[in-house]
Amino acid sequence: MTDKINELLRRVEEFKPKAAAEIEEFRIRILGKKGELTALMEEFKTVAPELKRELGQQLNRLKNEATTRINALREELQNASSDTSASSDDLTRPGSAGRLGSRHPISLVRNRIVEVFSRLGYTVAEGPEIEDDWHVFSALNFPPEHPARDMQDTFFIAKDPDILLRTHTSSIQVRTMERQKPPIRVICPGRVFRNEAISYRAHCIFHQIEGLYIDEGVSFADMKQSLLYFAKEIFGEQTAIRMRPSYFPFTEPSAEVDVSCNLCGGKGCQVCKGTGWLEIMGCGMVDPNVLRANNIDPEKYSGFAFGMGIERIAMLKYGVKDLRLYFENDVRFLHQFDEAL
Ligand code: DAH
Repeated sequence: MTDKINELLRRVEEFKPKAAAEIEEFRIRILGKKGELTALMEEFKTVAPELKRELGQQLNRLKNEATTRINALREELQNASSDTSASSDDLTRPGSAGRLGSRHPISLVRNRIVEVFSRLGYTVAEGPEIEDDWHVFSALNFPPEHPARDMQDTFFIAKDPDILLRTHTSSIQVRTMERQKPPIRVICPGRVFRNEAISYRAHCIFHQIEGLYIDEGVSFADMKQSLLYFAKEIFGEQTAIRMRPSYFPFTEPSAEVDVSCNLCGGKGCQVCKGTGWLEIMGCGMVDPNVLRANNIDPEKYSGFAFGMGIERIAMLKYGVKDLRLYFENDVRFLHQFDEAL
């Protein structure tokens, strides 16, 4: 019987299958109900008691070896089949291409917005994320008691002088006016920070794009026409805009810009909450106080500014309902934007 056990052991060790079916066949032949090991077990019942201990151990070893080897072979074959280059013996075969990454939807939308405005002569300007009170608030005509300075909105880093994370990209307007004399035409993308509870519609980190245009004789009509052009380029030729009076400390007059809802064609649906319009940005004529604070003569120059959230534009453009998806970076979400724009 020892011979039979050793013979089986040798066959188990030498077994080299080419396909999964062969492994299964082998398993049935050895370990199956009518298999060779089962037959040996039957034979074991009849051996003399003094041989039982020794033979029992041998049989156990055989059973363990056979099971481990079969499982290992199965796994090996499975790995080889998922790796196509290994399953082929043709070493000259070209390798299979790895999947390329795709641009993040926020980058796609930002690049597109920058591209549209660069056609109107705007250049890109940037500024620091860690800012001081002057560039984020004071130079933009925020009175000292303005609620946007409240701790609820702003992440303060230090006091006296106030150092903080910028809450909007409007700070780049100020940095640009410091550096450059009119005519100024800049578009300023960047990350901004606000002390907000994270939900499907708010995040403590998000992205904005700011625009600033200062020259002699710039009018509200110039602003309206530029923003209409922008809206049509991003949301389609049929898009209309409307402006609603609003308030920002750094612009006078100020307005909120809505685009006609593309989903319902302006008739009113769930997305536009029945109004036919979707809010996309704030804008206005640069307040003379802001020009003065930045050493630009308001008698000679005028200008307009606008600011929008990139996440919001991307949500409206792609129909994404939860802002948090942009931050989770799940590739199943991100890959949907391959070549999207
Ligand atoms: N900074 C504003 C915000 O974060 C957006 C904004 C509104 C920017 C009007 C502007 C503007 O330049 O003119 O809500």
